[in-house]
Amino acid sequence: MQGWERALVVRRRWVLLLGPLALLGAVLALRGMDRPDPADRSRLYRALELSPSRSINCSGVVRGDQTAIQEARLSILEVANRKASPTPADYLNITRDCRAFKETRRYIEFPLSQEEEEFPIAYSMVIHHKIDMFERLLRSVYAPQNVYCVHMDSKAPAAFLEAVRAIAACFPNVFVASRLERVVYAAWSRVQADLNCMQDLLQSPVPWRYLINTCGTDFPIKTNAEIVRALQLLQGQNNVESEKPTAAKQERWLYHYEVGQTISRTAQKKLPPPHSYPMFTGSAYNTFTRDFVQYIFENPTAQKFLEWSKDSYSPDEHIWATLNRMPGVPGGTPSSDKFLLSDMNALPRLVKWQFLEGDISKGAPYPPCTGRYQRAVCIYGVGDVPWMLQQHHLLANKFDSEVDDAAVQCLEEYLRHKALYGRGL
Ligand SMILES: *[C@@H]1O[C@H](CO)[C@@H](O)[C@H](O)[C@H]1NC(C)=O
Ligand SMILES: *[C@@H]1O[C@H](CO)[C@@H](O)[C@H](O)[C@H]1NC(C)=O
Repeated sequence: MQGWERALVVRRRWVLLLGPLALLGAVLALRGMDRPDPADRSRLYRALELSPSRSINCSGVVRGDQTAIQEARLSILEVANRKASPTPADYLNITRDCRAFKETRRYIEFPLSQEEEEFPIAYSMVIHHKIDMFERLLRSVYAPQNVYCVHMDSKAPAAFLEAVRAIAACFPNVFVASRLERVVYAAWSRVQADLNCMQDLLQSPVPWRYLINTCGTDFPIKTNAEIVRALQLLQGQNNVESEKPTAAKQERWLYHYEVGQTISRTAQKKLPPPHSYPMFTGSAYNTFTRDFVQYIFENPTAQKFLEWSKDSYSPDEHIWATLNRMPGVPGGTPSSDKFLLSDMNALPRLVKWQFLEGDISKGAPYPPCTGRYQRAVCIYGVGDVPWMLQQHHLLANKFDSEVDDAAVQCLEEYLRHKALYGRGL
């Protein structure tokens, strides 16, 4: 029996002992009473804490204690501690009983504050593998008042698709996109996946205010309450990374690209953009207001621009940046240089690029990655966690439990503690 299965059994015994009514009673007491009994609250919150890992001192890690970081590194290297990640089959098994699944995994099933309850957020989650990373991301951004659309790559293995559907089916506010694309790296299908979710999310009865799009290698570095407060401060503006395109990036929409198994450039030149506004480049991952999302499906200029972008290279890295700087776009920003927004200054996503890292005192934006690189982007190691928690971004990219599980574990533990008690570990 794996550790997490054992935890399920132990948890079941615990629930039998204390009785599910105790937990339900505490939830009702919290929601129904003006002044919840502090004993009820503390009992309920204790039951929702994530049990600290035996071998990793996350409290030390998040504070940047070098001994704790070293020990965490050694711990994940030890073969004895290398347990295999849960598989789609494991998730299919554990989600057969949704109630037990949500209890064992300690999902928070009531709004933690009125402020959060009154500010629902929509998430578009575009994923293609690593079921455990998806489920851990979902758990960390999950709140019952929010709504989550999951788009899986249609070419993902059947077991993965089935496991995602099983997880989604356990929640009234998590659903699979109504259309699944076959996603090709750097091609339009990546954008279409998000658009499918955006369209579905607009149909949802949840009155969400902002939409955050994510992928399977993202992880939050803020609690839902902190995300709500950050979005409230935006005063109805989108927050979209947008910079002036480099010469290399301009090539991306200068030529017609062909998409087969992969994307490739042709010699055929594209027409210039179907509007007279400047192009900008940025990130695929942003925060959008509801009005913005509605607008891009209805406005003819936005629609023509999206249509024109379909045969460009990696359109996800220029369409949002450009749309957000066009006049008349809801929540948009003027095209003036005063509003250029780099990834480090934008809110949505913290990313460490290999070619930018270095010595901060010599002008580098951030210290070197302590994990491993994938396509020049850092997959964070546990040593990146204290640095990360000093940044203002809502989420960070990339994480992988197979590269450094301690980084993910410590974030999970830290965020849960902060969500429940308002302070870090
Ligand atoms: C974990 O790290 C903290 C902060 O550095 C330290 O005070 C504490 O003693 C450590 N705990 C354990 C069990 O080593
Ligand atoms: C399914 O989970 C139960 C515990 O809930 C475990 O006893 C059983 O062995 C699991 N079955 C499979 C096929 O993994």
